[in-house]
Order: sequence, then C-alpha cells, then structure tokens
Amino acid sequence: MTAPDTNSPTAAVASPVPAKERIVIFDTTLRDGEQSPGASMTFEEKLVVADLLESMGVDVIEAGFPMASQGDFDSVQEIARRSKTAIIAGLARAIPADIARAGDAVKPAARPRIHTFVSTSPIHLAHQMKKTEEQVLEIISATVAQARNLVDDVEWSAMDATRTPLDYLCRCVEMAIRAGATTINLPDTVGYAVPEEYAAMFREVRARVPNADKAIFSTHCHDDLGLAVANSLAGVAGGARQIECTINGLGERAGNAALEEVVMAIRTRGDVMPYMTGIDTRQLVRASKLVSNASAFPVQYNKAIVGQNAFAHESGIHQDGMLKNAETYEIMRPEDVGVKSTSLVMGKHSGRHAFKEKLKDLGIELGDNALEDAFKRFKDLADKKKHVFDEDIEALVSDGLETAGE
Ligand code: KIV
Ligand code: ZN
Repeated sequence: MTAPDTNSPTAAVASPVPAKERIVIFDTTLRDGEQSPGASMTFEEKLVVADLLESMGVDVIEAGFPMASQGDFDSVQEIARRSKTAIIAGLARAIPADIARAGDAVKPAARPRIHTFVSTSPIHLAHQMKKTEEQVLEIISATVAQARNLVDDVEWSAMDATRTPLDYLCRCVEMAIRAGATTINLPDTVGYAVPEEYAAMFREVRARVPNADKAIFSTHCHDDLGLAVANSLAGVAGGARQIECTINGLGERAGNAALEEVVMAIRTRGDVMPYMTGIDTRQLVRASKLVSNASAFPVQYNKAIVGQNAFAHESGIHQDGMLKNAETYEIMRPEDVGVKSTSLVMGKHSGRHAFKEKLKDLGIELGDNALEDAFKRFKDLADKKKHVFDEDIEALVSDGLETAGE
C-alpha cells in the first residue's frame, strides 16, 4: 500500500495520527559533496544548486569551506547574499583564522551559521591532531565561544564521533554546548557504525550530558558500508532532529547519506516514523539531475528514488500487476519525486499484457492472430536486443502485416 500523504503539517492536524516532529534537513552537497574527488563545481554551478536547494525547502545549506580557497569563500559569500529563507552554513576547522573567515563569508545571510569541528577519537587525537583529550576540550571551548561571538547559530561537530569513547564524547559535547553551540553533530565520519549502535550513541549522549536539551542533535553519515541512510534514520530514532545529507549521496569516498532517500523514507514510512521534513519532494529528480551534471557524477540506473530505473518495470509479472494497480509494485508515486510517470520498459521479460498496452499507446490495433504473431516477433527481437524501442515495435508490426499481405 502506498502510505497516506501525512507529510504536511495540515494533514497531521486533520488526521487522528499523532503530530509529526519536523526533521531539519541540512544539505552539504556544496561542501562534503564537492569534496568528492573529481566532483568540483564552478562558482556559477554552485549558485544554481544553492538556489534550487533553497526553493525545494532545504533548511540548512552548507555552502562550502571558506578557508579552503578564495573560490570557496566567494561562493559561500554569494550564496549567503542571495539566500532568503535557508540557514547558510560555512565550515571551519577549530582554528581561529578559519572561524573568522567562515564568519565573514556567511555574514550577508539572513540566517548565518558557523559549523566548526574537531576530531575527538583516540586515533585522530594521536595521529592527526597530536593533542591530548584535555587540550582538545580547551580547543572546543575557545573555538565555539569565538564562533558564538560572531553568529548566534553555531554548530559543533565531533569528527569521528562513532569511534570516540562515550565518556569523553559526552565531556566534549557538554563543553561545546556550554561554550554556545546550538547544534551538536555526531558524525560517522568513516562510515563505520551500524544502525543500532548509532541510535544508542545519541540516546546515551542525550541522557548523560546535563545540558543536552539546549542543543539540537544532528546525524552526519558516510556510506562506506552502505549504511549511511539507515544510520541517519537510526540517529533520528535516538533523538537527533537534524540530518546532514547530500543530493545523490555525493561525498567523500563512498559518499554521504542521500537527501532524496532520507526524505522519501520519512515521507513514505510515516506510519512507523512519526517525522516530517519541509522538502518539496517533487523537485528531487530535478535536483539530482542538476547535481549530476554540475559535478559530472552520473547517477546509477538503479539508484533509489532518482535513478533512471527507480520507476521502471520490465518483468511480465510486474508489468501485469502495474497495469492492474500501480500499488502492486510501487510504494511511492513517481510524480511525488518529479518523475512524470511509471515506465513499462519493453524487453524480453515483458508479457502479452504490457505488449498489448504498448500497441494501444502507439495507436496500433491488431486482431488476435496478428497480435500473437507480433508478440512472437517481439520476443525474438527482445532476445537479441537490449533495448526495444517504440520504433522497433512499429517496424516489426508493419513487417508482419506486409508479410501476411503477400
Ligand atoms: O564526516 C565528517 O566528520 C565531516 C565533518 C566536517 C562534519 O564531514
Ligand atoms: Zn563528512
């Protein structure tokens, strides 16, 4: 059954279903996504992507890493200038110069955010930072306070949170909130967590940190084990209310949680997840195409939600079911994600029912014998040809009619 559309606040009010909690969608396509090797975008492309993200209802746009380059600074600043409703975030390491630069870049935004992060796991502290736990706590206190002097909205991330001992993670989170952080992000930086433990981490941290209720908790999941979306949803079950994600799951290594997947999972399974987002899902495919073109990263055919095959059916059994009732094999309506309609792809697995429908669409009417003959010819062709196009079907029907007329 396609789940009822309970994604709008009005639907939530009008129905007996309990009101849904709003999940903040934080898009980092232009920062973590663009960090994907080979995915860099031009200044103009970034502006177009940011405009679309805002128009589709993304709550927070992480526009870039202003200290990374002059180009990044300029694009973050311009996106901040153009923004109307979305929060515009700039990333900064826990370094005073980075934070000042991010503050300058996001300043023109109606709703600026500085997102600062530091590693907290033992392996990062020992090998990358070469700092003690106590030194990192001091860094958190000083850098979050600096950011908070520049803007009211400060996000702090514990890089490699999922490989950080819980006691120490809790001390870091408490310190960041005390210094003024309003959002606490606990990333699965290396895509190592499994859903149960990611959910438990949020539950534990929120239960143990005395000032936890003063901040919104956020997920940020990488897809090294293919669990980024599942982990993001598990984080929400553990109490997170912001999900960080990217269009098409673009991002470092195997990518980040895909925005279109988390949003449609929340929308489609509102029966078991009482949440909602503010995303206009009808723009998801447009956003996917735009980001794919700008980043030059093709979208795999079978990619959930936005792949070319996401609403395509070839097997005879499925096509027959779809022609009788679309809910037999589709859990979402294609138009809800911006796809015009389901497509019944004609191939060697297609059955008579779909073939007959295809002929009808093409305006071809055949008697029973001619139909049977055309269907046989179609199957022979489909065995030899990967894609059978409408023109192929028209040709095999007219060839058949000519032969019969001879
Ligand atoms: O994966 C990660 O930890 C990050 C942080 C900068 C938030 O991208
Ligand atoms: Zn990341």
